[in-house]
Amino acid sequence: MSDTLVERERRLQTGPDAQIDVLVSEVGPRDGLQNTKQFMPTADKQRWISAAAAAGLREIEVCSFVPPKLIPQMIDAEEVVRHALSLPGLNVAVLAPNIKGGERAIASGAHKITLPISVSRGHSLSNVRKTTEAVIEEARALCVLRDALPVEQRPRIEAGLSTVFGCTIEGRVSEEQVVRDAVACVEAGCDEVGLADTTGMANPTQIRRVFRKVRAAIGDRLGGAHLHNTRGFGLANVVAALEEDVRTFDSSLAGLGGCPFAPGATGNIVTEDLVFMLEEMGLRTGIDIDRLLAIRELLRQSIPAEPLHGYLPALSGPARARMGAG
Ligand code: COA
Ligand code: ZN
Repeated sequence: MSDTLVERERRLQTGPDAQIDVLVSEVGPRDGLQNTKQFMPTADKQRWISAAAAAGLREIEVCSFVPPKLIPQMIDAEEVVRHALSLPGLNVAVLAPNIKGGERAIASGAHKITLPISVSRGHSLSNVRKTTEAVIEEARALCVLRDALPVEQRPRIEAGLSTVFGCTIEGRVSEEQVVRDAVACVEAGCDEVGLADTTGMANPTQIRRVFRKVRAAIGDRLGGAHLHNTRGFGLANVVAALEEDVRTFDSSLAGLGGCPFAPGATGNIVTEDLVFMLEEMGLRTGIDIDRLLAIRELLRQSIPAEPLHGYLPALSGPARARMGAG
């Protein structure tokens, strides 16, 4: 029997074996694979998700419900979700770019659905062929579908505000517009609003300022941070967000990832490095780093042409010793 949202959240926060300070949400199977040239076979995706859950990851964005013609990597989305739902305790997250994707996501039984909503009009048109306002209307329609379900079957709906910190198509993004869009998403019924640096253009000062402004506007509806490492500022941005009390971070194994519709953007922050840094800072993630590192071998074998990123995997001996929080 699938547990209710409330039960899942309680377990995330306070379960006896689940004491964590920061929720690391693995997005590699979605953000990573949407951008790889090689197709990862379904069985390998399932092995990856199982291994990540076994390593202690509590939330994994396992796929996106997009037209397979557009992103063939996601052709097996339903099958991948079915497998992920069989793993006890895992919060199964998916991405849906429109109402049709949202309907497929609801039918799949996923626990959390993220609808990407670009603050930049240029990126919105490039990514989903609709204006920001039109996508917020889709979010409203999706929330109506959610509310028609029995409470225990309702997925959590996240507005994933994208290109919040800069756009490779439009350049600067207005912070006032970010706040207005965040408020509009909450008014549309979204359970939470995450802020995404889709292009990896954010800097730590900006992260602090924007998270603070959005929190002032929508309070505890503010969700996590989705960061890319295009300029190498990713982990610095994590620390800045931690200082603003952000406690959920998306990241991807080996730093795979990137939006095919945002030219020049590169991969997500690297899960291995993120977990290592958080644990070194004394923040518990519940993730076993050695088991996490071992999953890289699966990527190496399944999609050998993809470059695998990360500092931690290259370290050895004293450089890798755990210094702890001190
Ligand atoms: N899943 C499966 N099929 C879908 C679909 C979905 N979520 N959304 C639309 N389709 C199908 C339609 O049924 C239609 O099929 P048909 O040609 O057989 O009639 C076709 O795709 C076109 O539908 P339309 O509504 O006109 O979509 P579009 O071509 O304007 O594309 C999006 C809009 C949103 C579906 C597309 O731009 C998209 O998937 N973007 C997401 C990109 C992405 O994932 N970016 C990275 C993550 S941020
Ligand atoms: Zn991303």
